[in-house]
Amino acid sequence: MFNYINRGPIPSLKSGSSKKTIPIILVANEDLKKWQQSLSNNQQSWLKLNDFNATSGEILLFIANNGAVDFVAAGMGENNSSTIEQDPIEPWLFSKIAKSVPKGTYQISNILNDRDANSAAFGWAMAHYKFSVYLKETKQKLSILTVPKNCDINFVSHMVRGSTLCRDLVNTPTCHMGPDDLGEVSKSLAREFKAKITIITGAALLKAGFNTIHTVGRAAEKEPRLIDITWGNQKAPKITLVGKGVCFDTGGLDIKPSNSMLNMKKDMGGAAHVLGLGQMIMEAGLNVRLRILIPAVENNISANAFRPGDIIKSYHGTTIEIGNTDAEGRLVLCDALALASEENPDLLMDFATLTGAARVALGTDVPPYFTDDQSLNSELLSRSKNQCDPLWPLPLYDPYKELLSSSIADLNNVASTGLGGAITAALFLKHFVPKTIPWIHFDVYAWNDRERPGRPKGGEAMGIRSVFDYLATKFKS
Ligand code: BES
Ligand code: ZN
Ligand code: ZN
Repeated sequence: MFNYINRGPIPSLKSGSSKKTIPIILVANEDLKKWQQSLSNNQQSWLKLNDFNATSGEILLFIANNGAVDFVAAGMGENNSSTIEQDPIEPWLFSKIAKSVPKGTYQISNILNDRDANSAAFGWAMAHYKFSVYLKETKQKLSILTVPKNCDINFVSHMVRGSTLCRDLVNTPTCHMGPDDLGEVSKSLAREFKAKITIITGAALLKAGFNTIHTVGRAAEKEPRLIDITWGNQKAPKITLVGKGVCFDTGGLDIKPSNSMLNMKKDMGGAAHVLGLGQMIMEAGLNVRLRILIPAVENNISANAFRPGDIIKSYHGTTIEIGNTDAEGRLVLCDALALASEENPDLLMDFATLTGAARVALGTDVPPYFTDDQSLNSELLSRSKNQCDPLWPLPLYDPYKELLSSSIADLNNVASTGLGGAITAALFLKHFVPKTIPWIHFDVYAWNDRERPGRPKGGEAMGIRSVFDYLATKFKS
């Protein structure tokens, strides 16, 4: 199997100073005139000739007499640089710069604040991401950034490696990323960080009471399983991450139409997110007792597939009527959440590609999250803004819970209406977590539908940098 866990340094980032670096001068739109005046006459003509307007990501190379690049002007667009509360600079601006400049070693001339220095390094590094496992030709241009002095290269590297792991896992097709493979990747992650891992597989799930996980996954060739990783100081605050690991979602007997099924290798995106975030936490050595729970299944069709109308008794004890076999994510998650809750973690987070309705509400790039913990909510929103890692809260509106009622079981796995589908899905999950446990649920798309610098089409990590930023300050060791 491809080695997914990479702890090496980021090839495109260097710290310290080296002499032969090419300066990149960031020019905000409103500073263009002033900056222009500081240039020689020749340079000013060159600027005019190229119609350089300092729009965001616009690049102009200045060539020295010997033919080498003397310096690079990079437009920032409107940056509000004169205001005190300056907006963060998006990392993707630096991805665009890294992609546009010729091979070489660069440095940024402007003085950036700590946040933007990290953003620059992250964006620069991610510009070099390419899922090339299945390509014969893997050659790529490497441009190196000598990071600004105030850049926390370790912190950034944790985020780069974690995001890369997440993307790689999502991008790998199900033929090589089934429930068994997800188990193997988890084992190698555990081995790397000397974490404990147990995996309950197949019929053993039934014996232990994880009936929803077994039921959803039993029709697939690769047996369903529950992956359980624990790491860190047993006495430290308990942080538990739960990730939806549906390695492929056909929809089950309520089969998806082909265009909806096409991308469903990404339905283990939640698992990829918690493994990526878990790697960041373990690399950083945060002072937490980390637990990662992944119900890994394939929602497929066979003679023994679960059916609409079936009733499952969950690990929690709640009986669930199956209204739709395509609402399988909440089923596998509910047993994992109930197990997680048994030890009263200090913080319980789950990530899942749970609903299409979340996309209808907020589009592909803004994952909604749901929590009743107000301090976590406001803390996370500010980290999200800082990291340029979009997230937005949606309400756990309890009156909608009745939409999940069943006349012959305690709950139905789907609501009687599709409207508010992301909320009803979140309320379903909430049923399995005691009110006393701080819990947050992220409904992520885990995918870039379109190509942008630093964000190629394919798997994407969403929200985990915000969460890591939050945890890293709170639980610094
Ligand atoms: N994996 C899908 C949700 C999904 C679809 C996420 C497309 C991202 C993009 C999930 O298992 C599902 O099929 N959900 C259904 C639920 C419905 C049957 C209540 C949905 O959202 O349509
Ligand atoms: Zn589904
Ligand atoms: Zn699904």
